[in-house]
Amino acid sequence: METSEKKIAVVSGGAGGIGAAVVSRLAQGGFVPVILDRDESLGREVLARLGLQEGQGAFLLVDVTKKPQVHGAFERVRAEFRRIDVLVNLAGGTLHAKLIQDFPLKEWREVIDANLKSTFLCCQAVFPIMKTQRSGSIINTASNYGVTGSATRTAYSAAKAGIIAFTKSIAAELAPYGVRANVIAPGRTATQRVMGQYDAETWAAKGREIPMGRAAEPAEIAEGVAFLAGDDSGYMTGQTLHVNGGMVMP
Ligand SMILES: NC(=O)c1ccc[n+]([C@@H]2O[C@H](COP(=O)([O-])OP(=O)(O)OC[C@H]3O[C@@H](n4cnc5c(N)ncnc54)[C@H](O)[C@@H]3O)[C@@H](O)[C@H]2O)c1
Repeated sequence: METSEKKIAVVSGGAGGIGAAVVSRLAQGGFVPVILDRDESLGREVLARLGLQEGQGAFLLVDVTKKPQVHGAFERVRAEFRRIDVLVNLAGGTLHAKLIQDFPLKEWREVIDANLKSTFLCCQAVFPIMKTQRSGSIINTASNYGVTGSATRTAYSAAKAGIIAFTKSIAAELAPYGVRANVIAPGRTATQRVMGQYDAETWAAKGREIPMGRAAEPAEIAEGVAFLAGDDSGYMTGQTLHVNGGMVMP
């Protein structure tokens, strides 16, 4: 297949727990995944595990909070693959959880930047490419906490709520160009980063608090992303898809 005929999916944070599952699911769906992440060894490991050779997948070392790096990365993808069909923004996380009076501004900004600024920068960089194609699907990542808020997670909850409103705004802006933008909002998901915060017993107890009795597997979040990425959701834009076992029912 010619490079220009392949469907290209850029995944920020594609080296992470949910990211790896999304990369795998999109590759299975026929996309060429391009991972943008600051963890090079994990990112390359994800591609190697899937057996993707040169041209079937790519990794770019990028700090997605840095505008020159982000814009440079999207230029490289455009130069190599000529198009971008899907952008999934997954980089982020809680990073710091503290009572409001103890939250240093530097750490607060780090959380906002990792989640919200990175999403803005990647969307800004991909838009000219999708606009020229007159097609594209953007999937940004929120969280149930972006709807409910969460004690000690002020920065994270604010960033994720911001991502929902940001995505509605770009959905309205980009619709005339054939570009869609939606949000995936995972509930608690069994990734190493999150499970590492609990001992096994507490993790299981936390799972039982969820109506479906357990946390999500990353592959279950990836199914939601694949739906938003593909033509089956072709008339959806500006929406938030909650995949959370009933933890939050907004
Ligand atoms: N796991 C959950 O329970 C859960 C729940 C709701 C929402 N989410 C959201 O899903 C996304 C993925 O979560 P996860 O659990 O897979 O996390 P993770 O830590 O496993 O993966 C995050 C990835 O993003 C990368 N990353 C972070 N900051 C970056 C930066 N500045 N530049 C480049 N790469 C960067 C990390 O290297 C990592 O590979 C996050 O946005 C998170 O907030 C996760």
